[in-house]
Amino acid sequence: MDVVVVDDAEAVGEHVAALVLRSVERDPALVLGVATGGTPLPVYRALARGSADFSAVRVVALDEYVGLPAGHPASFAAYVRHEITEPLALPTGNVVVPQGSGQELERRIRELGGVDLQLLGIGRNGHLAFNEPPSALDSRSRVVALSETTRRDNARAFGRDPVPTHAVTQGLGTILEARHLVLLATGVAKADAVAAALTGPVTPDCPASVVQRHRQVTVVLDRAAASVLQRRRNVDGADRECIHHPQL
Ligand code: GLP
Repeated sequence: MDVVVVDDAEAVGEHVAALVLRSVERDPALVLGVATGGTPLPVYRALARGSADFSAVRVVALDEYVGLPAGHPASFAAYVRHEITEPLALPTGNVVVPQGSGQELERRIRELGGVDLQLLGIGRNGHLAFNEPPSALDSRSRVVALSETTRRDNARAFGRDPVPTHAVTQGLGTILEARHLVLLATGVAKADAVAAALTGPVTPDCPASVVQRHRQVTVVLDRAAASVLQRRRNVDGADRECIHHPQL
């Protein structure tokens, strides 16, 4: 696992965007797994500022609410359209946002030949995509009930509309099949979840801890999100050398 700590959310965006660009240069038909939420926005905006050709890239999103009217502005389909498909000029046929059942999502991912590079955020409660604690570490894509914490955290996007109670999400086992995982976190509110996911036990109670089971993981954090992790490592004297500060 490679852990990179940079100054702030903007720098996280630049770092991950550079990683995506290198991957697209190597493979113009890359299958890019995208996360939604606030954390990866600086990545997509940094990509949109560049001039790379994404016309052959395939994109698959991790999750989507269930029961929202089509085109609802808080849907992840709308997010992917506004933040990724349109600014990066991707053909709409190259973009998969989960819809319907978990089996359907699994079929779409299989048809793409699997995900090459998967961007991941993390919830304050350690959720990964919409795999809420507890989630089986080998779970497949499925419809899940959202926790109150997650519904509260995501309420800002819904204004006066009720936050959905369910979502369809890639399972933890599904996510682990991506060839390279890139976990991003910014802000002090994520610091405990990051430390638990990366240094705590691998357990269904912290779904993001499953990344410890993957052989190619890059974690990109800002200083605030890394703060508890770094304190813990300093106390433990554990392998600090795997934390890079590329800007120092
Ligand atoms: C959401 C999404 C996750 C995302 C996480 C964090 O509910 N389902 O895929 O990573 O919560 O979101 P944010 O980046 O806005 O904190």
